[in-house]
Amino acid sequence: MADTLTLDRPDDWHLHLRDGDRLADTVAASSRVFGRAIVMPNLRPPVATVDAAVAYRERILQVRPSGSRFEPLMTLYLTPGTSPAEIRKAIAHPDVHAVKLYPAGATTNADAGVTDLAACADVFEAMAKGGLPLLIHGESIAPGDDVFDREGIFVRDTLAPLVERFPTLRVVLEHITTQDAVRFVESAPAHVAATITAHHLLYDRNEIFRGGVRPHMYCLPVLKRAQHREALVAAATGGNPKFFLGTDSAPHAQRDKESACGCAGVYTAHAAVEFYAEAFDEVGALDRLEGFASHHGPDFYGLPRNTDRIRLRRVSQPVPATLPLGDTELVPLRGGESVAWVVEQD
Ligand code: NCD
Ligand code: ZN
Repeated sequence: MADTLTLDRPDDWHLHLRDGDRLADTVAASSRVFGRAIVMPNLRPPVATVDAAVAYRERILQVRPSGSRFEPLMTLYLTPGTSPAEIRKAIAHPDVHAVKLYPAGATTNADAGVTDLAACADVFEAMAKGGLPLLIHGESIAPGDDVFDREGIFVRDTLAPLVERFPTLRVVLEHITTQDAVRFVESAPAHVAATITAHHLLYDRNEIFRGGVRPHMYCLPVLKRAQHREALVAAATGGNPKFFLGTDSAPHAQRDKESACGCAGVYTAHAAVEFYAEAFDEVGALDRLEGFASHHGPDFYGLPRNTDRIRLRRVSQPVPATLPLGDTELVPLRGGESVAWVVEQD
């Protein structure tokens, strides 16, 4: 087994960078390896206009480490008030690359999301016409729906009809966690794709309860049973260009996770590509990592692939128990343990 692996520089097609004094830490972590990232708009208030996205991009660029060419690709947060005119403005703007749909209340800072998709028809028509992708947090929000079933219910009752009603709308089902989602995306048209996180490839739901409750393994959509993890690994490593890397790295302060009502989100940006390498290595599919991490995403978004390369080495690295996050700290994935790969810096 080769101990080194060289890849075209990967990109992260689903990332939370936050804002304010936390931004310098998150941008430094992701720009270490990724060339570009699709930046989630779930700030408070949400990034719902082109002007807000442009201003957020400027704040990100201001804290970008010197010498880095990391490129933030901005998204708009779809609200009930989003107008087709704003969508047309986004389509014409070179720095806005997608619109994010949060079913209202589905996850962190999703309160301003959408409850009635039918009311967004003119927005979806404008997006389909301009080729602007709709990125979807795919979970149902009916209070009676079981948390482990929400993705499957959403795919069946909401996504399938949406894709049928808007047959040319470009869609990315974000951070998929189930066999149901894999099957749907596989059988949908070529312009329907999905991102997969490293933690959903590496862990199933038992990890949340290993020896006690582990709040740092809680994210949304929540980890699912082993058979779903296996379906995700097969999809990610199968070479299908519809599946690509999106970390969903979601930083929260340690105190907000270790709480009676802990926040959803797993932070992986400190070792994201290294975690993906572990997952691909486990099934002998390292030769498929470059397509998933570096090619399928830009091809879907109609952007050029990165032209420089990174080198990974299979060497165990300790992961710090905590990392700085502005004036506080977070607990990263594997904090206090180790990761089996390292990205070598020249
Ligand atoms: C994300 C966050 O913290 O912003 N949390 C998460 O568990 N993934 C929001 C999201 O992508 O659902
Ligand atoms: Zn996310």
